[in-house]
Amino acid sequence: MNQRVVSGMRPTGRLHIGHYHGVLENWVKIQDRFECFFFVADWHSLTTEYADTSAIRENIREMVLDWVSFGLDPQKSVIFRQSLVPHHAELNLILSMITPVSWLERNPTYKEMQDNIEHRDLSTFGFLGYPVLMAADIILYKGTRVPVGHDQLPHLEITREITRRFNNFYGNVFPEPEALLTETPKLLGLDGRKMSKSYGNSIYLSDTAEETTKKVLSMMTDPARVRRSDPGEPDVCVAFNLHRIYVPQEKLDQIIPACRTATIGCVECKRILAECMNERLAPFRAKREELAADPALVDELLLDGSRRASLISDAVMAEAREALKI
Ligand code: TRP
Ligand code: SF4
Repeated sequence: MNQRVVSGMRPTGRLHIGHYHGVLENWVKIQDRFECFFFVADWHSLTTEYADTSAIRENIREMVLDWVSFGLDPQKSVIFRQSLVPHHAELNLILSMITPVSWLERNPTYKEMQDNIEHRDLSTFGFLGYPVLMAADIILYKGTRVPVGHDQLPHLEITREITRRFNNFYGNVFPEPEALLTETPKLLGLDGRKMSKSYGNSIYLSDTAEETTKKVLSMMTDPARVRRSDPGEPDVCVAFNLHRIYVPQEKLDQIIPACRTATIGCVECKRILAECMNERLAPFRAKREELAADPALVDELLLDGSRRASLISDAVMAEAREALKI
């Protein structure tokens, strides 16, 4: 069977290197193996940001600039915006009719988010229905593979349950999508916690080389290495989790014993890291600057992609309405 990939990201603004190595890099790779639909889940961001939507437009622009400059290719993939394809809303409505509320209430992500987010009221209909909209996003294109991280697996399981229920009631319209799991260790941020926008500990794809160097030099190392003369341990060093990604193996083979014998200092060691990072990121960053110079580019790209997405979603919706006899 021909595989079709569908995946989305909520527009949270500029992406950091954790997003890149966790998700985006994988999206870029699979473009060559499958037919891919990648979209900005702007309606999904309303589930939590409904009271203040002032940042959404700018966040979409920044995120899509990152997508395209770091390798998502509108020639290879359909790159679009959810809210420009109203079929997502239509299918969401239909799926909401057949989804038992108990499936949504027992969703672990639902409980977790409600407990963790204090300053926003998440007791809304839309937030409870988050997985229904996600199911609609995927099966609207008859997606068969969904690249997601572990955190999204419960959502995908609900998608599969809803799909089976639809097919049971109305006949086999939708394939049951499967996860395309991306196994990536969580990147640590400057302070040693998980890299996250809300912690202010991130290195962004769009940071300049100078900003990157400054951040890397401020990064935590081995907490036990207080003085320059203390030996260190790369395995517990926060900065070293980035060395493993950016510094070539033969350099690592020198750094590791040098750290353990206090032959190299952390400043020098982190300078090496910053250099390697900037070298690797430079061509993408240059492309980003070039693309960002055109203020209409992102809107045009998303409009074009959304038209292409609509061609597919239009046919699938016709089939779904027919099956529903509506
Ligand atoms: N829930 C996903 C996230 O927070 C975003 C998303 C929305 C998505 N719709 C999707 C991912 C459909 C994959 C498929 O990361
Ligand atoms: Fe980490 Fe390098 Fe310092 Fe060792 S020398 S603790 S690897 S920054």
